[in-house]
Amino acid sequence: MKALILSGGHGTRLRPLTYSQQKQLIPVANKPVLFYAIEDVIEAGIHEIGIIVGPNAEQVKKTVLSREWDAEIEFIYQGEPKGLAHAILVARDYLGDDDFVMYLGDNILREGIVRHLEHFKKGNFDASILLCEVENPQQFGVAELSEDGRTIKRLIEKPKVPPSNLALVGIYFFRPIVHEAVASIKPSWRNELEITDAIQWLIDHGYKVGWTKVEHWWKDTGKPEDILDANRLILDDIETDIRIHTNARIHGRVIIEEGAQIDGSTVIKGPAIIGRNCVLRNTYIGPYTSIGDSCVIENTEIEDSVILEGSEIRNAGRIVESLIGRGVKIMNSDNHPLGRKLVVGDNSQLIL
Ligand code: G1P
Repeated sequence: MKALILSGGHGTRLRPLTYSQQKQLIPVANKPVLFYAIEDVIEAGIHEIGIIVGPNAEQVKKTVLSREWDAEIEFIYQGEPKGLAHAILVARDYLGDDDFVMYLGDNILREGIVRHLEHFKKGNFDASILLCEVENPQQFGVAELSEDGRTIKRLIEKPKVPPSNLALVGIYFFRPIVHEAVASIKPSWRNELEITDAIQWLIDHGYKVGWTKVEHWWKDTGKPEDILDANRLILDDIETDIRIHTNARIHGRVIIEEGAQIDGSTVIKGPAIIGRNCVLRNTYIGPYTSIGDSCVIENTEIEDSVILEGSEIRNAGRIVESLIGRGVKIMNSDNHPLGRKLVVGDNSQLIL
């Protein structure tokens, strides 16, 4: 069994962050989203992993290879992203005649894939998908089940009128027959080879497609609010682990990494994580906040936010529900003319 993890695409809904980095590398609780997928696959006993890369191929390679994994990892270049089924086409040689799990690198699934993989194997399916109840099925692939709920009748990509609230999670198990499906389908209205169409092809041609339901939470981290949501959900499960000495007031579950300097007038209320070599002075860090490595934060309150590494925030008042990129500087102007002095990238969003 192999794994195919997708880490390409342009991530347009996460601009401006995705102008400079691949969306699957955006950290949630200080860990790139992509790493959650790699860990799930290895936990399920799969040790051959192909990672599909696109626009920021070198960045993805460098980040993945900065850690040791109990797996052989190969990188497969997709070129222009032309849909999820196109990724399978590109990986044809790598996958050979093996069964595989395809895992979208921007998906996070709290429960991992062990139970779902077992179901695929035991049921002797040609493909098996994961379904999750959602409030906004229009934004996903959606499944229509048979009357008795046992089999899948139909899959529809982003339907205007969804037949159910069961969204297709971005994790799919396949037998090699999927290669025939992928080669047979035509691009959709958005000019992509849709994985939902490939699975529908399997159903229409009498192949056995199974499904399992997600029991805990699942997140597709396509938009900034999804990153904040995933961050909250992951932080909900952390345990306290403080690697430094500090006189700061700390409440609740907090992780503080090595090398951080936090003064006695700082207050941290967990769940929160503070990265390596951060400097925090006279600052309040509130629940559901992740501060990346080497950030400097002074005289500021930050709550329910994700701050990426190397950012400097001084005298900035109160920051909430924010996603802030790498190396960002935010400070208070104390010279005339007073007012907001902004240098903001394309497609940024400021709510003042
Ligand atoms: C893709 C799939 C969709 C699935 C979703 C899960 O959507 O096309 O069926 O529900 O991933 O993350 P996309 O992220 O390309 O909009």
